[in-house]
Amino acid sequence: MDKLIVHGGTTLKGSINISGAKNASLPILAAALLTADDVIIRRVPDVSDTNYMIQILSALGAEVERSSGTVRINAANIISDAPYELVRKMRASICVMGPLLARLGKAKVSLPGGCVIGDRPVDLHLKGLRAIGAVIDMEGGNMDMSAPDGLTGDEVDLRGKHGPTVLGTDNLMMAAVLAKGTTIIESAACEPEVVDLADFLNSMGAKIEGAGTRRITIQGVEKLHGVEHTIIPDRIEAGTYMVAGAMAGCRENGITLNRVNQEHLEPVTEKLIEAGHQVKFNDAGNSVTVKPGSEPKGCSITTAPHPNFPTDMQAQFSSLFAVTPGISIIEDTIFPQRFMHCAEMTRMGADMQVDNGKAVITGVEQLSAAPVMASDLRASAALVLSALTAKGSTEISRLYHIDRGYEHIDEKLLQLGANVERVRE
Ligand code: EPZ
Repeated sequence: MDKLIVHGGTTLKGSINISGAKNASLPILAAALLTADDVIIRRVPDVSDTNYMIQILSALGAEVERSSGTVRINAANIISDAPYELVRKMRASICVMGPLLARLGKAKVSLPGGCVIGDRPVDLHLKGLRAIGAVIDMEGGNMDMSAPDGLTGDEVDLRGKHGPTVLGTDNLMMAAVLAKGTTIIESAACEPEVVDLADFLNSMGAKIEGAGTRRITIQGVEKLHGVEHTIIPDRIEAGTYMVAGAMAGCRENGITLNRVNQEHLEPVTEKLIEAGHQVKFNDAGNSVTVKPGSEPKGCSITTAPHPNFPTDMQAQFSSLFAVTPGISIIEDTIFPQRFMHCAEMTRMGADMQVDNGKAVITGVEQLSAAPVMASDLRASAALVLSALTAKGSTEISRLYHIDRGYEHIDEKLLQLGANVERVRE
């Protein structure tokens, strides 16, 4: 297992390119199962989660070729059973259910395990698929589903106790595109990654309207054809480096991130400005420069479904607030247990009280290096951010958590002037 050693105190400068979005790539790779034609997907980030999805597609019988960020898939001959040993590694594997049901009329996928950010139920996925005719049996940890009478469109509300479901919306959308009749998803997720999937499906010949709103209408079609598609920029990777710029960027020129989408970054931009930092986009909105503010101040954040502040960015902001004067409060309404990073940051000298889905953070002058352990993708990224400004050299173990969703994070940090080294343990 690799670890990352971060020598704190260097100022970041210069620019990097943001990669394609992991959370758009995963459902779009799965959606390639919906056609027997060639599909070419560009800007797929080279991270372990997309590699797992590519392995799953291959195990299902698809031909998959990858050359740098471009993936070519042909799913002419596929089977319906997803391999347990791969599915258990990544929850997002469940988004092969919808396409397999639509294409083959059956699917067998193991129930995803839990994870450190909290309980990860799939009841809303099952509710949506059952609503359009899927028969689903839970057998030995597997979801064994079939559509004996085919899939028939219907209206279904996918709101759960924590609001909409991103992958649940994706799964139902992908099943409904080849169903008879029309499906209406109420309380649909509006994340940009859901819109990118809808755009991808429509370019294959699907008839989807309303993606990006809470009500999505899908008119079923006979079949879908091949397509070429470029994945949208990763707003969470971009947001993570924006926080790095606010924490450790050079005061004069800051750091610049290219290949971003300004609209997707609105909640993060607003919060960084509220916290006293400088964020400036170019006219095209595809490049952003972030500089540390001269009078940073603590703020409050409550995560909520898009277009509100994303849960995937709250850990990174806790790193910023840990060394920001004043008191900040972060509440995660989507994953109330998603505060594993706080215990590790406290080891570095942070003043954080976590209780009942909320973290109360009192800023301190500077954190100090300590050996810390990554626990989940975004918590690990937050530890890297804390280490950038901490006194001394911080060793972050279990780097595989970061490699799930951040493409070449050590190379990008080095390109920004950080003093980091990846060490094989
Ligand atoms: C997606 O996960 C993202 N992953 C997550 O990003 C992100 O945190 C999450 O959406 C919320 O924005 C991918 O897109 C691959 P949900 P997903 O279904 O779709 C509850 C990262 O760091 N729920 O939108 O699995 C659930 O427990 C990852 O990149 C049910 O109750 O999340 C949660 O409280 C982490 N029943 C809320 O809904 C269900 O059937 C939102 O979950 C499904 C979900």
